[in-house]
Amino acid sequence: MENKAVYPGSFDPITNGHVDIIQRGMTLFDKILVAVLENPKKTPLFSTKERIDMIQDVFSDQKKIEVKAFDGLLVEFAKKNNAKIVIRGLRAISDFEYEFQMALMNRKLNPEIETFFMMPNVSYTFLSSKLVKEIFMLGGCLKDLVPNHVEKNLREKFKKSI
Ligand code: PNS
Repeated sequence: MENKAVYPGSFDPITNGHVDIIQRGMTLFDKILVAVLENPKKTPLFSTKERIDMIQDVFSDQKKIEVKAFDGLLVEFAKKNNAKIVIRGLRAISDFEYEFQMALMNRKLNPEIETFFMMPNVSYTFLSSKLVKEIFMLGGCLKDLVPNHVEKNLREKFKKSI
């Protein structure tokens, strides 16, 4: 049976920390389904399509990676897509409480789905999509923090909004 994992998130936008987790996951799972949250409450900077396109651009030559949008319950999405593992990245202790709560709630909702925590390379432990957007808007350097085309997309997005 195919060993498939879902890697859910907002990915607004994808960072090198996310890329690192996906690359590590590729050595462990047959398939990784990157699940991009469609959440109108969060009003993301990038549309769902833009966020999906940016992830697909990074992994265009990887057959193991699939990218889809999702809304509703994550465990329902995982079940519908025949995945029994949910991957989540843990950067620091500060991530733990929320992730622990979410993992146990997901287990309550569907005991067949297991959460698998992975730590990114230490050089990404301070990195988040939120900080990437803030640094960009304040004119800081995004070198090594996001894939090149993501920086280009940020530039275009902010040019349009000025
Ligand atoms: O990148 P994020 O914002 O940390 O990702 C959070 C995400 C998408 C994993 C989480 O918000 C989620 O799973 N949302 C789907 C709704 C759901 O299943 N809620 C119950 C989880 S306990």
